[in-house]
Amino acid sequence: MNPSASHGIRISGVSKVFAGLPRPAVDDVSLDIAPGEFMTFLGPSGSGKTTTLSMIAGFVPLTSGSICVDGKDISGLKPHKRDLGVVFQQYALFPHLTVAKNVAFPLQQRAVPKSEVQSRAADALTLVGLSDCADRLPRQLSGGQQQRVALARAVVYQPRALLMDEPLGALDKKLRDQLRKEIARMHRELGMTFLFVTHDQEEALTLSDRIAVFNNGKVEQVGTPTELYERPATLFVAQFLGESNVFTEDGDHGAIVVRPERLDLHAGPDSVPSGHQRRKAVITEVVYVGNHHRIGLRFDDGAEGSAMRLAGAALPAAPGETVIASWSQSHQTSVQGG
Ligand SMILES: Nc1ncnc2c1ncn2[C@@H]1O[C@H](COP(=O)(O)OP(=O)(O)OP(=O)(O)O)[C@@H](O)[C@H]1O
Ligand SMILES: [Mg+2]
Repeated sequence: MNPSASHGIRISGVSKVFAGLPRPAVDDVSLDIAPGEFMTFLGPSGSGKTTTLSMIAGFVPLTSGSICVDGKDISGLKPHKRDLGVVFQQYALFPHLTVAKNVAFPLQQRAVPKSEVQSRAADALTLVGLSDCADRLPRQLSGGQQQRVALARAVVYQPRALLMDEPLGALDKKLRDQLRKEIARMHRELGMTFLFVTHDQEEALTLSDRIAVFNNGKVEQVGTPTELYERPATLFVAQFLGESNVFTEDGDHGAIVVRPERLDLHAGPDSVPSGHQRRKAVITEVVYVGNHHRIGLRFDDGAEGSAMRLAGAALPAAPGETVIASWSQSHQTSVQGG
């Protein structure tokens, strides 16, 4: 890795108001992306991910706030002056240019010496595993291959960061998995700052150093995949990432979250470890999901939840029967909201 390839991005108090919308599309977002970090924006449709990425890229002007790269404010710069690579869901390749010429295009735009253009374009194609396709036209490639060309074209001029907005969104499951691994490898090899947008939690959890969870134009929580999963700060984050059992607490507005794999199930009170929290529940269903069973639960307050058991492990009761669900206090998380 080339250490000078890594640049930090700082987003400070950034908002975007579109005329006619009842609330800001992006609402006072502050976020630091460390040099070389793989940061993901995760959130439901309409939560402000694309708008935030577009403000960083320079396609959408900010209503307020600032965006800095390496400490310098870039908010006023035209997109091509920001030196950031961008890849969208639609590959947007030039249809009449060969793969090699598509990838060489940004270098020619930047007046890179002719002698260098060819070798750098070839290197970028090698990076995405497409050296054999240099002379083909985009329409002679599969969707996954076209998206690789778009990736090569976005990094060929060694931008300060690579921004990707749902780059796997148009691909089928198998290609998506393949290209996801390629993107992880590119990140390791380039050491470049990556910003990735998705609404797919599996993509976010497997690729990212850190994830920023967007909801209603705000960032609800920023953290490593483990932090978000083990210690969600809000009910929204707990329910958006993985499955949760949510227990509301008397007397305040908070809730307790316990992940399914942390719940023990008992036929009666005698086997509940002392010190464990407990709730009565009815087993609503037992579903086989490969290497484990998902056990649907309805708690005595009517809330639905679930537990997990490795396939083969004995269950304390059958569907329709009552069990006691218990958990260690160290495995519960207090969250805001709900
Ligand atoms: N050019 C625009 N004019 C008006 N409203 C817009 C514009 N672009 C986005 N919006 C609105 O801003 C909000 C955030 O949109 P954005 O595209 O950032 O969401 P997103 O998180 O990327 O969603 P998705 O997962 O569907 O791509 C939405 O309510 C959207 O309708
Ligand atoms: Mg979007």
